[in-house]
Amino acid sequence: MPKLNENYQNLKESYLFSEIAHRVAAYTKANPGKKVIRLGIGDVTLPLTPLAVRGLHAGVDAMADSATFKGYGPEQGYGFLRSAIHDYYARNGVQIDADDIFISDGAKSDTGNISELFAADNTILIPDPVYPVYVDSNLMNGKKITYLSGNADNQFLPMPDKQIHADIIYLCSPNNPTGAVYNRAQLTEWVGYALENQAVILFDSAYEAFITDPALPRSIYAIEGARRCAIEFCSLSKTAGFTGTRCGYTIVPRELVFTASDGREMSLHAMWNRRQSTKFNGTSFIIQKGAEAVFSPEGMAQCQENIRYYQENAKMIAETLNRKNIRFFGGIHSPYIWFECPDHMESWEFFDYLLTNAQVVGTPGAGFGKNGANYFRLTAFGSHENTKEAMERFERLF
Ligand code: MLT
Repeated sequence: MPKLNENYQNLKESYLFSEIAHRVAAYTKANPGKKVIRLGIGDVTLPLTPLAVRGLHAGVDAMADSATFKGYGPEQGYGFLRSAIHDYYARNGVQIDADDIFISDGAKSDTGNISELFAADNTILIPDPVYPVYVDSNLMNGKKITYLSGNADNQFLPMPDKQIHADIIYLCSPNNPTGAVYNRAQLTEWVGYALENQAVILFDSAYEAFITDPALPRSIYAIEGARRCAIEFCSLSKTAGFTGTRCGYTIVPRELVFTASDGREMSLHAMWNRRQSTKFNGTSFIIQKGAEAVFSPEGMAQCQENIRYYQENAKMIAETLNRKNIRFFGGIHSPYIWFECPDHMESWEFFDYLLTNAQVVGTPGAGFGKNGANYFRLTAFGSHENTKEAMERFERLF
């Protein structure tokens, strides 16, 4: 009989968004005539941009011709995409090395897989509330987590506690689920703390394209010293509508070298490269051609048009909450609006209430951690029509 990884016993029975899908499916089965509006999982609804589609077509055409056909590609990603990402960062004033970029099928896999590189006895700081993948992937490996409290008092932007030594720190800005964004001074403090502790920041910037204020950092590498203490994860899911297309990337600077217990130097870049080339065979060439088009100046301008569309939805949701005097966070540099459940309801109770009485699906804050117990998240990724209708139903309810 196999001995199982019993750490799985420490997980909730289902992943958050599977649980939501399950409850919504049960509701629609029981109420077939009702129109359910889904503002739960952060899944995009606009089609891919014309340039991304053109890039994908070019990829397909290349595969159809023996002169340009591609078999296995480099596990790290094709040079053309790595340099397009490098140039995109440079246009935003951030210098990275194209060779430090690893192309993947999305930030979810990479933020989940990265924990393999670290031993079990690290002090791992993870904010609460947080994207559940960081917590679940560490629990799966039997790792212990120290939670950083995000709450209304700190605007859901926890800062370092100098009394605590950390080895690994997860940060997400703009934040999922709260939509809160760290400013330059705050990220500078985090980088200083990480350097002092010889810690590594695992920085998730999946929502960077939603930042409209040029003073706010869109990458951890906008902060001096970050190359010596941070890995960055990003994704085309929300930037370019690639939730179904799948493409992301992780930047692991070569400066990240630490001393092993036997005194040998170990490079996180070399370890990640070893891990990826062993367990991953690269992102499809066709998808990488689509992604390359996204990172051109024109490609990004088209993505920004879609993002503006979603930002109008966020504004519609924020205006509704303002009219109802419901306190909320996010919704400006982020597609997420995080608000206090009305009438002191608990978040799963509010989920059921909203689904049953308004046929609107959101995400209960409890799914992101204890501090989310009385909060709820709505996404701006729906259509204008559905968002408007959802808000009208919401207004009638409260
Ligand atoms: C979310 O709704 O939090 C995201 O869509 C999840 C993800 O990006 O995996």
